[in-house]
Amino acid sequence: MSKCLICQALCEPFISFGKMPIANGFLTKEKFENEYFFEMKVAFCKNCGMVQLVEQPEKEKMFNENYAFFSGTSKNMAIHFKEFADHVVKDYIASKNPFVVEIGSNDGIMLQNFAAQKIRHLGIEPSANVAKVAIDKGINTISEFFDGELARKIVKKHGQADAFLAANVMCHIPYLHSVVEGIKILLKSDGIAMFEDPYLGDFIENTTYDQIYDEHVFLFSLFSIRYLFEQHEMELIDVEPQETHGGSMRYVIAHRGARPVSKNVFSQLEKEKKLGLDKEITYDNFRKNCEESRDALMSLLKDIKKQGKRIVGYAATSKSTTVINYCGITTEHLEFISDTTPIKQGKTSPGAHIPVRPYQEFLNNYPEYALLFAYNHSKEIMAKEKGFMSSGGKWIVYVPKVQVLK
Ligand code: SAH
Ligand code: TMP
Ligand code: ZN
Repeated sequence: MSKCLICQALCEPFISFGKMPIANGFLTKEKFENEYFFEMKVAFCKNCGMVQLVEQPEKEKMFNENYAFFSGTSKNMAIHFKEFADHVVKDYIASKNPFVVEIGSNDGIMLQNFAAQKIRHLGIEPSANVAKVAIDKGINTISEFFDGELARKIVKKHGQADAFLAANVMCHIPYLHSVVEGIKILLKSDGIAMFEDPYLGDFIENTTYDQIYDEHVFLFSLFSIRYLFEQHEMELIDVEPQETHGGSMRYVIAHRGARPVSKNVFSQLEKEKKLGLDKEITYDNFRKNCEESRDALMSLLKDIKKQGKRIVGYAATSKSTTVINYCGITTEHLEFISDTTPIKQGKTSPGAHIPVRPYQEFLNNYPEYALLFAYNHSKEIMAKEKGFMSSGGKWIVYVPKVQVLK
């Protein structure tokens, strides 16, 4: 039993993925001995509906000057965030000299769109290396962790904000109450918070268990987000489903009573009921689906290796750390993992220590099979890997089910 991070009720884990390393902790040989592991168990809180990690590493272990994830590596995500920014400006910002704050602003992939329109903005990005990329592009950024205390300092220095934005970061923060308190302090009376994260509904429907790793402390639903913000007299006023990261949800929040609540909120809450997101049995079934997926993937990989064929991992994603270590994938199955991010290349994957090599090596010598770890970018990848496919290369995917694509 553990205590819910949101409502303090006792909750029971429904799955353990076993010992897991830091998902973005790519490492060289000298670091193997001191590699950090934690038991990755996930619990569902019957009271507030929050799905959460039972144990999390300290935040500085994950977000520091060696953070390996640069948002700008995906062109499609750059387009996605331009649309996000345009939507905010067009539909939510009315004041004359607006001020926009984004947390987890990374290399500036979202804020660059505000900077280009000369809109007053501030990025909060604790990982100094990615923050530097944004600063070098002329995007106002401070390298700190956002919480209630920082919000007070920001208001003192810059005044209150029209919009608080966040993408794929709210679900990373275990001390969410302090963050929501910060949002409350930061926002003007008609200000809005908009944030998006991988969605619990898609996770359950498609068995995307790889959305769970050290950084992803929570999987949100409308139900749990509404509960959380209600504690701080704020209100969920709209939701917008997204295709990103294998299925995400964008939440729009306002001060209680400040704006009308869209009917989207009620219809999506109904869908959550139908999906059984409020029932323990749903999570028991999810565990069984994970075990089936793992067994199917491992027997496929073993089969291919028996035939003497080569398999290369495609993209050393954070998600792949969960898949590799939970399923038991090793260098016996994968020759290497191809990745375009320079700081991952020449290192090995966390836990299983599979070499990560430059993308060029994949291009130079196509394997018979590629295990697609970046399925959330599959449109972009299929478009650029015509050469691999015409050479007879086949994709192995595991979401929504394990299969070989020809
Ligand atoms: N928004 C980007 C980056 C997501 S990765 C995108 O969607 O592509 C999550 C980012 O949040 C990391 O860059 C990490 O350093 C940052 N982060 C983690 N905890 C934070 C906190 N408490 N406040 C602000 N940023 C945080
Ligand atoms: P993420 O899933 O944790 O966001 O990481 C994406 C990783 O995938 C990043 O290291 C870059 C890599 N990648 C490729 O190697 N090739 C590609 O075509 C894409 C889209 C991503
Ligand atoms: Zn709870």
